Parts: sequence; structure tokens; C-alpha cells
Amino acid sequence: MTMRTESRTLLELDAVRKSFGGVAAVASLSLGVPAGSVMGLMGPNGAGKTTVINLVTGMFPLDAGCIRLAGDDIQGLPAHRIAARGIVRTYQNVRLFSGMTALEQVLAGCFLRRGTSLFASFLGTPAARAAQARATEHARHLLARVGLAHRADVLAETLSYGEQRRIEIARALGAAPRLLLLDEPTAGMNAQESAAIGRLVHELRDAGLTVLMVEHNVRLVTEFCDHAAVMSFGRLLVAGTPAECIAHPDVQTAYFGHSADAERIRALR
Ligand SMILES: Nc1ncnc2c1ncn2[C@@H]1O[C@H](COP(=O)(O)OP(=O)(O)OP(=O)(O)O)[C@@H](O)[C@H]1O
Ligand SMILES: [Mg+2]
Repeated sequence: MTMRTESRTLLELDAVRKSFGGVAAVASLSLGVPAGSVMGLMGPNGAGKTTVINLVTGMFPLDAGCIRLAGDDIQGLPAHRIAARGIVRTYQNVRLFSGMTALEQVLAGCFLRRGTSLFASFLGTPAARAAQARATEHARHLLARVGLAHRADVLAETLSYGEQRRIEIARALGAAPRLLLLDEPTAGMNAQESAAIGRLVHELRDAGLTVLMVEHNVRLVTEFCDHAAVMSFGRLLVAGTPAECIAHPDVQTAYFGHSADAERIRALR
């Protein structure tokens, strides 16, 4: 295993709580994501994983606790201010704009953070045209990065599900994140497509990005995540290396059911 300095914590959740009605979706969760690493967030359905992403991105206010990015308290900031600080996400269910090509989807992401005034681009000033050309070039580069350069001019809704998920990642990258939150990026993908996402995430990490990915695929977490954390009923069961997490008896029970079943499930993988 390669050694990498991970002394800084980029994202820190400190005793975070969020309830919906009577349901504690996240119950006093404390978790740190080291800068420059990939963390896999696991847990059974309804454990609170997506809620964590919603809270970190400012979609909902917290009930209690604190969320810090590189030491700065970001709770209470509106979602666009959090995005401007470099926290960008993808969604569990693909959310692309209909009627837009793959390239246009990624361009939309590029403008999310750059803040080029729409008014200026309507005026078509030379500066606005130059900015547009730079953004287009960057969007093409990002499409190539997710292996979809050849799909740039195709309507996104006509692409395969796996391709749409990769466009979502390219669009998120367009916003120049420092922390990328991926909500089940490999859901519905076959083994090859999933491994390609794993490799992409590694490349992004090696280029300096920090990634928190919700992922059910144990093999993918083991192979591609530096750290893992497992939630159950809104709480953190365990955090550590993927191997430590998966071996934890509570995880065997919570994630796979009875641990004897887990052994059988693992034998089938
Ligand atoms: N906006 C909401 N309104 C009401 N309840 C919600 C809301 N969001 C989440 N919940 C509830 O909070 C709990 C955690 O949901 P969450 O979507 O975070 O789980 P998850 O770990 O992402 O599950 P899955 O693996 O199914 O995606 C669930 O009981 C869910 O019904
Ligand atoms: Mg979810």
C-alpha cells in the first residue's frame, strides 16, 4: 500500500443530527474525511447516507452539531455558497437536464462556480465569448476524462445509464470541487463499468480531490477506497480501513444480516 500524508481532515462532521418527523435520519454522527483520500460510506437502506450528503451540501439545515470544511464552519450556509467553497455532489438517481447534449450538461456544471454573468454572455462581448470558448474546451476535457469524448454532441437522455452517471460526474467536476460527494455512483452498473468508476475516482484523488462516495459494492470499497465508514439507523457503526469495517461484527449483522449469511454471500462474490 502506498503511504500518503493525510494529516489534514477536509470534511468534519461533529455530532450531527437530523430528524424528519419522528425519524432520526442522522443521529449524532461524527466523522472525518481526510484530505486527498477516498472514503466509502456504506450502510443498509435508510441508514442515513444520502441525508449526510444532503446536510453537507446545505440542502437541509442541521438539527444539531457542526459541519466543517478545512476547519471552517459551513453549517447554515445556503447550498450555492457551499458549492462555491468547493463541495459538489452527484445524485443517487441520475438528474440530468433533458434536451441537452452531454457537452452542454458538463458546461452547465462549469458555469455553476465560475459565476460568469449570463447577462455578459447574452451581450456576446469578446471577453464573454472567450470565457465561453475556454469553458467549452474545459467541458470537452472533462468528458474525455470520464471516457465520453465521443459522446459530446449526443442528447444525454439517449445515452446508456452508465454513461449518464459518468456525465453526472463530469458535470460535478466542471464546478471545480475540492470535495466530491458521489451518491451510489455505480448503482445499476455492471462489474466493468463499476471498476471504471473506481479507477476514475483514484485518478481524481491522485489529482488532489477528496472523495466521499456512498457505495454498496463491498468489493469496490475494498479495492478503491482508502477509508470506509458504515452507518446504521443514522449512527456510525465503525470507521477505519475498508477491511476493518467489513470485518466488524456489527457491520456483518447490520449490512449483511446474520454473519453466517454474510460468509455465504461473500463466498458467492
Ligand atoms: N426529506 C426527507 N423527508 C422525510 N424523511 C426523510 C427524508 N430524507 C430521508 N428521510 C428518511 O431518513 C432515513 C434515512 O434516509 P436516507 O435517504 O438518508 O438513507 P440512505 O442510507 O441514503 O438509504 P438508501 O441506501 O436507501 O439510499 C430514512 O428513514 C428516510 O425515509
Ligand atoms: Mg441513499
